[in-house]
Amino acid sequence: MTKKDVLRVLKADDSYVSGQALCESLGVSRTAVWKQMNQLKTEGYDIESVSNKGYHINSAPDILTDYEIESEPMFKEGFVDEVVFFEEIDSTNNEAKRQGDTIRDKAKLLICESQTGGRGRRGRNWVSPSGSGIWMSLLFKPDITPASASMLTIVTAMAVKAAITDVLPEADCMIKWPNDIVLNGKKICGILTEMSAELEYIHYVVIGVGLNVNTLDFPEELSDIASSILKETGVKVKRSELVVAFSKEFNYFYKKFMKEKDLSSLVTEYDAMLINKGREVVTSGELAISGTAVGINSMGELIIKLKDGDLKVIRAGEVSVRGLYGYV
Ligand code: BTN
Repeated sequence: MTKKDVLRVLKADDSYVSGQALCESLGVSRTAVWKQMNQLKTEGYDIESVSNKGYHINSAPDILTDYEIESEPMFKEGFVDEVVFFEEIDSTNNEAKRQGDTIRDKAKLLICESQTGGRGRRGRNWVSPSGSGIWMSLLFKPDITPASASMLTIVTAMAVKAAITDVLPEADCMIKWPNDIVLNGKKICGILTEMSAELEYIHYVVIGVGLNVNTLDFPEELSDIASSILKETGVKVKRSELVVAFSKEFNYFYKKFMKEKDLSSLVTEYDAMLINKGREVVTSGELAISGTAVGINSMGELIIKLKDGDLKVIRAGEVSVRGLYGYV
């Protein structure tokens, strides 16, 4: 009997679970149950025990352990099969890559409290302090071609946005194409999708998500650009709830994506979440183009309407949106 088993039984019941029922459903002794309860209490679980009634869980701490996440009743409806938790790690994307070749038909979620070498896109670093954010990587082996893998970033962004809305409807966040989630004009989440592949065959993909949930302090140089859900809304969200909601939403959007193996059935919904839409944008690089973002196509590329009315498609790269992240 693991902590996860005990938590599953407790969380599945709104009323009291008798010690007897716990012992029977888990096939263990009363002493064993009592020991696990005490252990959980020391970790911050508020578990009430009332004589003649049994046990009741009042609240769980804001932790991201495998047993906290996997014992949530909604977990089974999600995409993730297994959660692996680390107190501290260099980067969950790095760890996912180390484990990559062992992945078969299951989806693993690697998650941690803090990263010592968190990575952002384009070689940037990703600030990942303990206790305040969600630093996680989804590792699985999708049956798609390598050319389609970038669409998984789009699917993931939709799932993050939807998960935040599920847990905190008043947090009115939007997606900045292709991989940021923005709240009140500030970045609260970034996505880093990586893969190991041959030309026509994917060994595995790693989708790294960094979500600033309850972070209050940001390095000086990021303070105009980055923020967190707590900073923008004043609400402290329990992180494991967001993780479970993300897994559920990813399942929903991923299934839709896999029907056609493109985004045709998601374009309309995505465009409604897109902060770029209808706004002036400029691409970076030598051949910078500017125009008005129209939306995405079924490949997840951004369509930009130029001044002369021509449409241009942007496959990848940085796109600045006027009025966002200090771009005027
Ligand atoms: C970005 O630059 O916007 C992408 C940031 C991605 C950060 C996440 S945190 C979990 C995972 N592990 C990493 O090292 N990076 C990703």
